[in-house]
Amino acid sequence: MSAIDFKEALALSKESLDIIILHSQKGGPGKTTLSCNIAHELAKRGNKTILIDLDIAQPTIQHIFHIPDNKVNATINDVLLGKKQVSEDVVIETDNPNLYLIVAKENVEYGEGLLSLLEGIQQFSFFALHEMTKFLLRLGFRYIVYDCAPGYRMESVNAAAIADARIFVMRPSTFSFAGAKQMLSSIYKKLAISSLNFFVFNQLPPELKDESQKLLESWKNEIIEMYKPDKIDFLDFLPLSSAIMELGIKGEYIFPEDEPLYKKLTQLVDVVTTNISKMKEKK
Ligand SMILES: Nc1ncnc2c1ncn2[C@@H]1O[C@H](COP(=O)(O)OP(=O)(O)OP(=O)(O)O)[C@@H](O)[C@H]1O
Ligand SMILES: [Mg+2]
Repeated sequence: MSAIDFKEALALSKESLDIIILHSQKGGPGKTTLSCNIAHELAKRGNKTILIDLDIAQPTIQHIFHIPDNKVNATINDVLLGKKQVSEDVVIETDNPNLYLIVAKENVEYGEGLLSLLEGIQQFSFFALHEMTKFLLRLGFRYIVYDCAPGYRMESVNAAAIADARIFVMRPSTFSFAGAKQMLSSIYKKLAISSLNFFVFNQLPPELKDESQKLLESWKNEIIEMYKPDKIDFLDFLPLSSAIMELGIKGEYIFPEDEPLYKKLTQLVDVVTTNISKMKEKK
């Protein structure tokens, strides 16, 4: 694989860099799965895309893309802590020439204990995310996709604050729904309204009973109503796929093209990217 030519990338820098984040209130609804697949799809469409692991306590992206430790010169932790200036050291290539990664490391390499590491990151992360965005723009990236940690962690909320589009992921369960309403009303509605807000239900069991489907429809409408006068758009009900679960046993997480989830993912990517472009045209 040829090395990334940063000088050339700088010369070709684009003006438009769109930031998409995936977030949730509770853990496990599928943020990482969806962010990897969204970033992969954006890259497949010819967009220079960078996927960033912002789940610094429980990172996954390095594992998902099978990146050996000796390919990781610097992590997002270094950048967010201000231990390292954002530079090409942090950007990792993948097999897809349009897809790059910034990974996180959960270990306590700073010798201060994980909690103090997180505190340091929380204080510094807003500034660091801004600096990183400017750097990635100069490198010619077209999309940044942030895979966030669940809940109210500051680096996730900071990413939500700088995003062009926020995709909020939920499971079809009452606690996921209650947590989502809480987070959307307490945080999201207070962030800049010029960003787009989306939500998606993931991991729907196959062959839902009519009454369950009706309940989910009512939750969907309740979220849209609750968000008014601001706007949040419903993206889709995504099924729990046993084929995708089975691929995970083999360490594969990118949806195959013949998998029904892939079709739905492409539609989701269409909606999000078209709406970001429309929003930016208006500005
Ligand atoms: N639609 C789906 N069909 C089948 N399996 C899925 C689907 N979505 C997610 N999964 C599986 O569910 C598990 C949790 O998904 P994932 O790690 O993407 O969630 P997450 O929101 O990133 O979790 P965390 O909050 O811990 O970061 C994974 O094993 C993933 O492979
Ligand atoms: Mg995750």
